[in-house]
Amino acid sequence: MPNRKILVTSALPYANGPIHLGHLVEYIQTDIWVRFQKMRGHQCHYVCADDTHGTPIMLRADREGITPEQLIAQVEQEHRADFAAFGVAFDHYHSTHSEENKTLSSLIYKRLRDGGHISSRSITQAYDPVKNMFLPDRFIKGDCPKCGAADQYGDNCEACGATYSPMELKNAVSAISGEKPIEKDSLHYFFNLGDFSDMLNDWTRAGHLQPEVSNKMAEWLQNGLQEWDISRDAPYFGFEIPDAPGKYFYVWLDAPIGYMASCKALCDKLGIDFDSFWHKDSTSELYHFIGKDIIYFHALFWPAMLHGADFRTPSAIFAHGFLTVNGEKMSKSRGTFIKARTYLDHLNPEYLRYYFAAKLSAGVDDIDLSFDDFTQRVNADLVGKVVNIGSRCSGFISKRFEGLLSSECTEPSLFQQFIDAQSDIADLYENREFGKAMREIMALADKANQYIDDKKPWLIAKEEGKELELQQVCSVGLNLFRILVAYLKPVIPTLAANAEQFLNLPPQAWPSDAQPLLAHKINAFTPLMTRVDPEKIAAIVEASKENLEKTPQPVAKRFDPIAEPIEIDDFAKIDLRIAKIVNAEHVEGAEKLLHLTVDIGDETRSIFAGIKSAYAPEDLIGKLTVVVANLKPRKMRFGLSEGMVLAAGPGGKDLWVLSPDAGAQPGMRVK
Ligand code: MSP
Ligand code: ZN
Repeated sequence: MPNRKILVTSALPYANGPIHLGHLVEYIQTDIWVRFQKMRGHQCHYVCADDTHGTPIMLRADREGITPEQLIAQVEQEHRADFAAFGVAFDHYHSTHSEENKTLSSLIYKRLRDGGHISSRSITQAYDPVKNMFLPDRFIKGDCPKCGAADQYGDNCEACGATYSPMELKNAVSAISGEKPIEKDSLHYFFNLGDFSDMLNDWTRAGHLQPEVSNKMAEWLQNGLQEWDISRDAPYFGFEIPDAPGKYFYVWLDAPIGYMASCKALCDKLGIDFDSFWHKDSTSELYHFIGKDIIYFHALFWPAMLHGADFRTPSAIFAHGFLTVNGEKMSKSRGTFIKARTYLDHLNPEYLRYYFAAKLSAGVDDIDLSFDDFTQRVNADLVGKVVNIGSRCSGFISKRFEGLLSSECTEPSLFQQFIDAQSDIADLYENREFGKAMREIMALADKANQYIDDKKPWLIAKEEGKELELQQVCSVGLNLFRILVAYLKPVIPTLAANAEQFLNLPPQAWPSDAQPLLAHKINAFTPLMTRVDPEKIAAIVEASKENLEKTPQPVAKRFDPIAEPIEIDDFAKIDLRIAKIVNAEHVEGAEKLLHLTVDIGDETRSIFAGIKSAYAPEDLIGKLTVVVANLKPRKMRFGLSEGMVLAAGPGGKDLWVLSPDAGAQPGMRVK
């Protein structure tokens, strides 16, 4: 097979949060594919970077009292450490906040502009007059214009399901300053995606996308392509647009260009030619691994941008589905939103690499991490089948034959069967059917174990004069083990390296035409992998729940301004009562709400509170708090809410429910 030149990327993780197991589906999938290509002798480069720009990162840095540059430097270190620990081996890891990315973003923008694909016009948006910035929809909160539910985001109402524009919210406030937003005009720049509809119609059908993705694109294309707003006004953490002072590229404009920037930095490091990857006549292959949530950006905007700026387009986009845990969306309160670091504190990363491999296919279906299945599969396959062959055979070779394998292979056809499987297994890896590849490899492992079970070396060992046979049987077992390890190497590289060390072999390539090891001296066997301890999984879930506990947060530098003065009578109108939370539960279908039942002395009330992001129901039951008892009952999508629980904080995890000192009794009035 000719030597291929391949550039591979994974999506660039946002620099505003830690890597979690959901992310790892993608990075492990990509890494397995890249390791496979490299083992086959192809010139394959794997690049990635942190995605560092945008409003959330700017605001988080602001809250923590550091510069965005400091924040992204800190997060990059954490991301790199997590990836390295999971064996995700990038050839280069870069940042979108880099010189390379700035230069390339400007270049691409200018080419698009000069090609007539950029237009500008003024639009009206919500503006925070205290923070002096335009507000993205999710940074505006207020009462739903339709049902009046409080504390809804700028684009849709969780209580009644209405969608609207942020300026329609009643009593709208900026989630950043608490101030009422004003409407303000400003000039925006747009990328005319419609200029590329012919090109995209062809491209999305030309085999660059998975069939289901290609069909989805056809639907979107049929609905017509909207122009894409690519500018944001200062203050914004990003790159200023070359001919437009005070205007910045929207984060999603420079993010995919980060793939090129990381490649550029790699090329400079290795002294290889950048154009050979990106020139429009490039013959190298380019693959982007992404999650299904960001297909639109990669299958429409990105090829259009590249084409419009006279660069090559991707060879293919490989989208994968989302990770669920025990059949449900990852959840902080259930302890199934698991950070890479928390997993690493307790379990071997190669368990997860193998488990994901066993579950992955070339499609976009979601994949489920079920803890029972995880334990069972890793223990049965890796420990019970693969490692077991090595440990069963190596003891006799070490003890009885000074580590020397027999000088002839007594099962040439069995060995050949293992070698012959290589092209099927290679095709499965190549086509990202990792689950099927794992099943083929495990079927071979079953054959090897069957051979050993039939020969029973532990019995041969007890018989006089059967030394040679014992050595031959164990040597066959170890030769088969060696081939299995080679096939599994893209998935479990550390185990494979340790096995190579014990087999006294240099790093193995793909076993296309491997010969049995004869009269070969091996080293003493070292345990390669232990069984998954279910208690460790329980510990991970526990620790992930702890992530939710109220760790002290850096104090916001700016609080809501103090409201207008009121008379004591105004205050007296608000009937605040001590309440005991007697029950708390999740609300089916609600992202932010918990349903509370509170005892306020002479009655119990049903209250829907938007505190799910910060509290698990079990943490609330039995707790005393303060409620507004005379707030008019409000009908919400999920039922009637008969009061309001008092809480403070900017939102998300940072919310704290008020509680009285011990001794206060439900029903007492707060005065
Ligand atoms: N920064 C953008 C990507 C820019 S690429 C030019 C982004 N970042 S992300 O951190 O939110 O996600 C990074 C990748 O991880 C995406 O491909 C995303 O689909 C994937 N995943 C994030 N959560 C996931 C799961 N729960 N399950 C599987 N993949 C998930 O999007
Ligand atoms: Zn509503």
